[in-house]
Amino acid sequence: MTVHFIGAGPGAADLITLRGRDLIAACPVCLYAGSLVPEALLSHCPPGARIVNTAPMDLDQIIAEIAAAHRAGHDVARLHSGDLSVWSAMGEQLRRLRDLGIPYDVTPGVPSFAAAAAALGTELTLPGLAQSVVLTRTSGRASSMPAGETLANFAATGATLAIHLSVHVLDRVQAELVPHYGEGCPVAVVFRASWPDQRVIRATLGTLDPAIGAGERTALILVGPALAAEGFDESRLYAGDYDRRFRPVGTAPRFPE
Ligand SMILES: C[S@@+](CC[C@H](N)C(=O)[O-])C[C@H]1O[C@@H](n2cnc3c(N)ncnc32)[C@H](O)[C@@H]1O
Repeated sequence: MTVHFIGAGPGAADLITLRGRDLIAACPVCLYAGSLVPEALLSHCPPGARIVNTAPMDLDQIIAEIAAAHRAGHDVARLHSGDLSVWSAMGEQLRRLRDLGIPYDVTPGVPSFAAAAAALGTELTLPGLAQSVVLTRTSGRASSMPAGETLANFAATGATLAIHLSVHVLDRVQAELVPHYGEGCPVAVVFRASWPDQRVIRATLGTLDPAIGAGERTALILVGPALAAEGFDESRLYAGDYDRRFRPVGTAPRFPE
């Protein structure tokens, strides 16, 4: 018996890996984080599967469900939105499973920042403008930020920021970022990336209306010069005169064929 943690993707039902889909189809028990996991994914569950929405449950109750499946010898598909490596609460579940000696594995998913970038049709790392993406958030009721992980500190690098769980405090985000990026810096807020009701708002840090964050909370704030997709260099990788292993160039290539 194994608990399969599966990244369910950002929302569109077909943005799940084939491995994730096949694992769902093979598991007689499915636990899903109902607040963000699309219900359409549950159609992959086998007939008669036990399907449990864990949104209203606490950690003890979730582990009790898994332990019961373990006793019955039933594999479990455990679905969380996006990818499991960020803000999935997988870590605390894995720790409990290790303590209980219950086997698990992890199948990655499409993270929401990637779906948001796709909605914008933007590469977040453009040569000469930004070569790093910071996945971060602001402090919330349930989670405080470790000292040092401030927006101001990340902004000081000039990297592209993908700010999660923060659309309701857009005014605070703007106030912290303007001193570093300037009012003219492009910003995009992508609501429900890849869902049928996806919505994109583009502005600059100076013109963004913080009131747009008053309703829907499932949104990503992307900030940084790369979002303008202008004034960047072409990558050397595809430059005609760039000698590389897969495309030797010149009279004395470094990697002769
Ligand atoms: C609990 S975190 C889950 C993150 C998820 N594990 C991931 O890989 O993106 C929830 C936050 O992720 C962001 N988010 C998740 N799905 C999203 C989507 N489809 N569109 C925009 N933002 C999304 C929002 O900032 C939301 O508040």
